[in-house]
Amino acid sequence: MMITKSKSTNEEQATLKPEYDRASELKAFDETKAGVKGLVDAGIKEVPRIFYQPRDQFEKDSVSGGTQVSIPVIDLEGVEKNPITRKEIVQKVQIASKTWGFFQVLNHGIPVSVMEEMMDGVRRFFEQDVEAKKQLFSRDYTKRVVYNSNFDLYSAPAAKWRDTVFCSMAPNPPKPEELPTVFRDITLEYSKQIMKLGYLLFELLSEALGLNPDYLRDIDCAKGLVMLCHYYPICPQPELTLGSSKHADNGFLTVLLQDHVGGLQVLHENHWIDVPPAPGALVINIGDLLQLISNDSCTSVAHRVLTNSVGPRVSVASFFTTALLPDARLYGPIKELLSEENPSKYRETTVKDYITYFNAKGLSGTSPLPHFRL
Ligand code: OGA
Ligand code: NI
Repeated sequence: MMITKSKSTNEEQATLKPEYDRASELKAFDETKAGVKGLVDAGIKEVPRIFYQPRDQFEKDSVSGGTQVSIPVIDLEGVEKNPITRKEIVQKVQIASKTWGFFQVLNHGIPVSVMEEMMDGVRRFFEQDVEAKKQLFSRDYTKRVVYNSNFDLYSAPAAKWRDTVFCSMAPNPPKPEELPTVFRDITLEYSKQIMKLGYLLFELLSEALGLNPDYLRDIDCAKGLVMLCHYYPICPQPELTLGSSKHADNGFLTVLLQDHVGGLQVLHENHWIDVPPAPGALVINIGDLLQLISNDSCTSVAHRVLTNSVGPRVSVASFFTTALLPDARLYGPIKELLSEENPSKYRETTVKDYITYFNAKGLSGTSPLPHFRL
């Protein structure tokens, strides 16, 4: 009901009135509890105005596919057994983390069957009956499992064309019965595997920084795991909205599982570069807090997700972050990395203060890091 109504009002308002009642349209959309998928299922042919991204979000300097540059792919085969291979891998991780902030990993130890089943589970959740989904609908992140559309619906400049299930998996995992049955077992299994991979990645990153392999884990970078399971519905007008607007991730590290559809792009030397889906690969990216504690040896890079009119896309972003823990630990540039030639570039902050500052801005496209720069 709200859908047909908002469609006609949008058309009128777009042509007749420059101002429209954005707040009540956001609220009406939110109250359907059916997300963007609900709009698509209702047969919407035009993107409602609340989803219109500012024009500058669609800069045309996108480099896609072909022989152009793409993010590094690092094969982890042999990393645990062969010290020479490990050294080579650490070198690649170091370069990729500094110059790209993004890389893909192969032979990371997570079976393809687990990855596929995780994505199937997410698809099952979003494609189930809307009444079943509604039971999980909430904006209360003190719960460990929450479904909604646009965590920053009311604060961001424009809504994004995606729906999300949020699962806080570590250090305090949900009780199994808190997870929807359609992906309960696989979420527990997948998150266990992601934790293991996270430990390895933080070892490699510690070594890449010239530190003891346990360094980053010892300061709790791998302690908290939040999984965001995203569903990007098919979009009737992909030129008007985005699946995710330009942002950088605010945690320490993100491990992204994406299906075959594509749409993720990273900003590299002022060009939007596609991150092409690669079978069996996982996408790794550096978060703001790792850039901060590494004193810019690692780079947290802006990225976005385009929508498409071909088919829905599923991804699972696993964030290593302690944002949800009552953790008063102060994070600043790691002392061992600092010298006269490399003085500290940031002031110390708790994760909570960093995230609070980040959330207040919404995914508005500007990095909060400069705010913490000395
Ligand atoms: C994110 C993100 C990318 C994707 O959740 O922060 O950037 O492809 N996701 O879903
Ligand atoms: Ni992101």
